[in-house]
Amino acid sequence: MTPGRGTTPRGAATEEQASQYVRGMFGRVAGRYDLLNHLLSFQVDRYWRSRTVSAVRHITTRPGARVMDLCCGTGDLLLALERGAHPEALVLGGDFCHPMLVEAGRKSVRTGAHTPLLECDALSLPLPDRSLDLITVAFGFRNFANYRKGLRELSRVLKPGGMLAILEFSTPPNPVFRGLYNYYSTTVLPAVGGILSGDRDAYTYLPDSVRKFPVAEILAAELEGVGFTRVRFKRMTFGIVTLHTGLAG
Ligand SMILES: C[S@@+](CC[C@H](N)C(=O)[O-])C[C@H]1O[C@@H](n2cnc3c(N)ncnc32)[C@H](O)[C@@H]1O
Repeated sequence: MTPGRGTTPRGAATEEQASQYVRGMFGRVAGRYDLLNHLLSFQVDRYWRSRTVSAVRHITTRPGARVMDLCCGTGDLLLALERGAHPEALVLGGDFCHPMLVEAGRKSVRTGAHTPLLECDALSLPLPDRSLDLITVAFGFRNFANYRKGLRELSRVLKPGGMLAILEFSTPPNPVFRGLYNYYSTTVLPAVGGILSGDRDAYTYLPDSVRKFPVAEILAAELEGVGFTRVRFKRMTFGIVTLHTGLAG
């Protein structure tokens, strides 16, 4: 991972422009996001999120636990965390894309959860130091304009020993599977995603950002570099997705 670097969408020359691109792109697809997510992942995204919920259950089931699902998007992981949480735990969703939060809010009301939602940038959170026991980030970290700055900010708001869990796309280590996956993500995904969302650019950005994203070993080293301990990662579904965990120092 290059220090000071994050996502680099086509045409974005600065971190501010990268951030604006990401916010705008998710805003355009928000209404169709869930449908496309489940369809294009053949519903396996539900399994990835449920594995994440299991990995952090020892924290969410604690009375008084303070949990934030950052980059919560339309709220699927957020609501799954909330469902399994202790009644006295606080589970909060955060995202910097307003239309995504609107979708999350609707879903939360529909399911009776009424989860608090915060419109915020992960790189500059409006939260005090050492205030959270757990932060989860599902498929959002890859889009940060600056990965190291993001990790430092997440570390700042976690209590010492608090847990960070990042679920993110990754590059499958097996060359055969990698080839198949690359074919799918660079041809089928932009075509189907483009037609159904009306925004081919968004579904071209997706495989492009995955391809440029650091491999699991490098991200793990970066977590350690900013002070996280007990850093682990677990590949799922042939390494299409990896769950990274670590404890704040
Ligand atoms: C691919 S969606 C994932 C949504 C949800 N976590 C899920 O699993 O479906 C990525 C989300 O991350 C949000 N995001 C990306 N960068 C962010 C940042 N710097 N601060 C806050 N939210 C961000 C986007 O707005 C988008 O809603």
